[in-house]
Amino acid sequence: MPGSSSELTIRECAFEIIRLCEALALDNAALARALQAPLQRIVSLPDLLSLGVKRQGNHIDNSKYLYYDGQLVISLDEFPKGKRIPPHDHGVWEAIAMYRGSVEHTVYERIDDGSREGYAELAVVDDRRLGPGDVCVLIQPAEIHSFAALEEGTHSLTVVGGHYAELRHYFNPADKTCVVRRPRPVSQARVAAN
Ligand SMILES: [Fe+2]
Repeated sequence: MPGSSSELTIRECAFEIIRLCEALALDNAALARALQAPLQRIVSLPDLLSLGVKRQGNHIDNSKYLYYDGQLVISLDEFPKGKRIPPHDHGVWEAIAMYRGSVEHTVYERIDDGSREGYAELAVVDDRRLGPGDVCVLIQPAEIHSFAALEEGTHSLTVVGGHYAELRHYFNPADKTCVVRRPRPVSQARVAAN
């Protein structure tokens, strides 16, 4: 049975993202730039809120899969207004593409060498308000972010280029500390944490 036109567009964009990942595997900056167009195409679709399949999120309750193939994940997530998600890493690239509402979003690069347990020094590389159509790609060397929704009904695409790390770092930049956490049981960790 053919999908709706929006579902087909999402699928086409997913295939384009996969091609870009293969072609630009060695050039993170180029990949981050190239991902903008297919992600903006998806968030221009008017009916995303009516699509998708319920997903178990980590930081949030309302999350739906729009695309999943065991590697690439595209989900549509509702960010609760005012809930600040602390700085965290992913172990894989992740992109945010805003659909509705807005977020205060900060991207960090870790500048210490990670050799001291519990110590981490972060530098802010991007700090801005993201609104509908804005895309931010978190990729090495800057794949740490924190955010908080500024409005009710804030929805964003979260796109992940593979499996999340099973152990994730959560940072306190003011104290220059970090803790390692396992967001979910190993069996779920690959897809269950933003
Ligand atoms: Fe994240």
